[in-house]
Amino acid sequence: MSAINYFNPNIIKIIPATTIRGDFQLPGDKSISHRSAIIASLCEGQSRLRNYSSARDCQNTLDSLEELGVKITRETELITIEGAGIDGLREASKALDAGNSGSTIRMLSGVLAGQNFTTEISGDRSIQRRPMGRIIDPLVRMGAKIEAREGGFAPLRITGGNLRAIEYAPPVASAQVKSCVLLAGLFAEGRTTVSEKTPTRNHTEVMLRECGASLEISKSGERERISILGSRPLHALGDYRVAGDLSSAGFFIVAALIAPDAQLCLRHIGINPSRAALIEVLKRTGAQIEIEYPRIIHGEPVADLAVRSSTLSGDLELSGPVIANLIDELPILAVVATQLRGRLAVREAHELRVKESDRIRSIVENLRRMKIEVEEFNDGFSVHGPQQIYGAQVESFDDHRIAMSFAIAGLIAEGETEITGADAASVSMPEFYQLLGKTGVTIKQGDVRC
Ligand code: S3P
Repeated sequence: MSAINYFNPNIIKIIPATTIRGDFQLPGDKSISHRSAIIASLCEGQSRLRNYSSARDCQNTLDSLEELGVKITRETELITIEGAGIDGLREASKALDAGNSGSTIRMLSGVLAGQNFTTEISGDRSIQRRPMGRIIDPLVRMGAKIEAREGGFAPLRITGGNLRAIEYAPPVASAQVKSCVLLAGLFAEGRTTVSEKTPTRNHTEVMLRECGASLEISKSGERERISILGSRPLHALGDYRVAGDLSSAGFFIVAALIAPDAQLCLRHIGINPSRAALIEVLKRTGAQIEIEYPRIIHGEPVADLAVRSSTLSGDLELSGPVIANLIDELPILAVVATQLRGRLAVREAHELRVKESDRIRSIVENLRRMKIEVEEFNDGFSVHGPQQIYGAQVESFDDHRIAMSFAIAGLIAEGETEITGADAASVSMPEFYQLLGKTGVTIKQGDVRC
């Protein structure tokens, strides 16, 4: 895990691919990994997590939980967590560092709001620019005291305890906000309810149920109401295997679809319907993706995915509820659009502007450097394909998904593509370049520059 030194230089060059072949597993899902560590820490008893994500973000969650007194053992293939129980966290001796991870800061804030002590939590420059008002508002309504930088930005100083249950309808579709409120609800008297207009990923709900939480889901008109009963013990996850990360798989799926002569088999990938719109949207354009051996493991749907080179065609208008399901896959879909015989238009995706980078800007800027015609909107972008991609110098903008998306664009470019800030990939997948290399792609370390 963290002890392994992956090939992750700051500048890399991608040589266009002739063949892509591979049959492998991917590291554990980032969203599920964060939740497994946080929830296991609040349970009674031991949880043994396998295939826990090697992402830097998920290591930040483990570090923060250790700071809060949770006993965690990290081995290459196994993370063992001795649950502290619902009342067992202790005051940290220093500020918690979420690094680049929105999930860490937003979900842990829900837990911190339930503690009878004060904790400071912050992260890197990107985290300090991302909106935290969306979690401050419900947590303050539940009774937590939160000091933040002007405008609702980290660092956050959270003094918790004595929470009351609330009913909350988040103004933005966000699984991090939903999870934050549900986790705070574990410490409140009574039932805390989140009412969602747009469904978002439901890993928190699935896992809390696995641990015996009293969680109810009902429909009220257009909205889904998720409620949790607080102040109740949770039982440990026990032996838990994290499903492979579908968002990370997305880069390999697209590589196999758009590169010539490609065949890939990706094993044990999470295909939870609240995350799987990428597969459905790609299939609509004629993508050859077979879902093999679908199964349910710890309440999460999992399958093996077989992918081959495909001719992609049709117009895709993506807006409305599907955006929340696809939010992390929009950068790689922008790369797909360059090869689509048709037009991809992404609208109502303002949230992209407040991700690890302003992803609309990052996508448009890099596509233009690669000589792709792209239109930028306030809330999205559109690309009319197919267009020839030309190798260029592109940037990660310190954003892991931008680095990986443009590495894939480089596979079908004319000429070499150089990516600066390529090591940003380690935020979600430190093994990305190695795995891509294993499929037959040539990746070279670029010249070191200051
Ligand atoms: C995540 C939710 C999404 C997603 C992020 C992970 C999660 O963020 O973009 O990568 O694990 O709950 P939002 O909640 O901000 O939409």
